[in-house]
Amino acid sequence: MIKTTAEVRQAFLDFFATKQHQIVKSSSLVPGNDATLLFTNAGMVPFKDVFLGAETRSYTRATSAQRCVRGGKHNDLENVGYTARHHTFFEMLGNFSFGDYFKENAISYAWEFLTSVLGLPKEKLLVTIYESDEEAFLYWKDEIGIPVEKIIRIGDKSADKKFESDNFWSMGDTGPCGPCSEIFYDHGEHIWGGPPGSPEEDGDRFIEIWNIVFMQFNRQANGDMEPLPNPSIDTGMGLERISAIMQNVHSNYEIDLFQALIKDTANLLDCNDLNNKSLRVISDHIRSCCFLIVDGVVPSNEGRGYVLRRIIRRAIRHGHKLEAKDNFFHKLVKSLIEQMGDAYPELVQQQAIIEKLLRIEEEQFGRTLDRGMVLLEEILNNLEGDTICGDDVFKLYDTYGFPEI
Ligand code: SER
Repeated sequence: MIKTTAEVRQAFLDFFATKQHQIVKSSSLVPGNDATLLFTNAGMVPFKDVFLGAETRSYTRATSAQRCVRGGKHNDLENVGYTARHHTFFEMLGNFSFGDYFKENAISYAWEFLTSVLGLPKEKLLVTIYESDEEAFLYWKDEIGIPVEKIIRIGDKSADKKFESDNFWSMGDTGPCGPCSEIFYDHGEHIWGGPPGSPEEDGDRFIEIWNIVFMQFNRQANGDMEPLPNPSIDTGMGLERISAIMQNVHSNYEIDLFQALIKDTANLLDCNDLNNKSLRVISDHIRSCCFLIVDGVVPSNEGRGYVLRRIIRRAIRHGHKLEAKDNFFHKLVKSLIEQMGDAYPELVQQQAIIEKLLRIEEEQFGRTLDRGMVLLEEILNNLEGDTICGDDVFKLYDTYGFPEI
């Protein structure tokens, strides 16, 4: 019986190994070969050049559990912890074909893994395809046997936005891209939401679990779609989402891994309410912070280091909300290692340095906040009227780390 997050991760890699895929270790969160990206944000990132034909490997099939961070300026950090599925850090399970198999195998493998290996009930699954993708449609219908009403076609957002669609995946403004087919899980009538493409699609009932991208083009800066040397496959399934389904829970924060981190944080901070959102925030943030440091990012005032600093400071502020009396964040490194150290030995190897960097950052932020409080008092004492001017507010936010909300 596959249930825990660790078991799901391993089952995925083992399954694709039996289908002749090379198991590839997760790459760094700092993309080695890509100046267009702040962080590795999908499982395909380390393989970008292989898709483009600029790099060859000794294998044409690969599988990985890739650590990912989505914490740049386009990710709404303030949402994390308050929704069921927003994270700064997550793991993406993926299988990849570099000019080897294409649509049929990719669809069959995904279906076999979900229904035979994980044993998900077929009637709970539905799929989307890119509107004009007859090949994928016929395969889902005739070979897999999905009823047509559960194969939903999704087109472009508008007639003048060709390829701008939930079912056309692009790495960015340029780079590998192609139509995709997504598999959704129906969490049940008791949860609000409608199927993909419906007005209620943003609800939480139908959740996308697996994206199968049929990589066919290299998008050029001028918008031209150059065919890739070989049609390829890139898939991605969020480990936390699929683990939630296997554990019969709805929110990612209820899975074993997060529950353990939440309990340890609650113990450390003497908090009795395990549903407190600040515990979720902290348990999410300890993951991204530890892994960013493992990958060589240090807190600073620009670029990747600034994102790391913002995440650490947000975690500390949520600790304050729970009335943390002491620097606490670095003490959670140990808990994370208990949960993820087996899968990521680099966490264990770098435990001391991670703890040290986080502790120093906590101490420094504490001093910055104290200075900010002095400034705030000064501002309040000299205030004429009842509004603090924008410049002062910005200074408190930008220089002294005061919260946005
Ligand atoms: N690259 C695709 C995604 O991020 C599939 O992995 O969804």
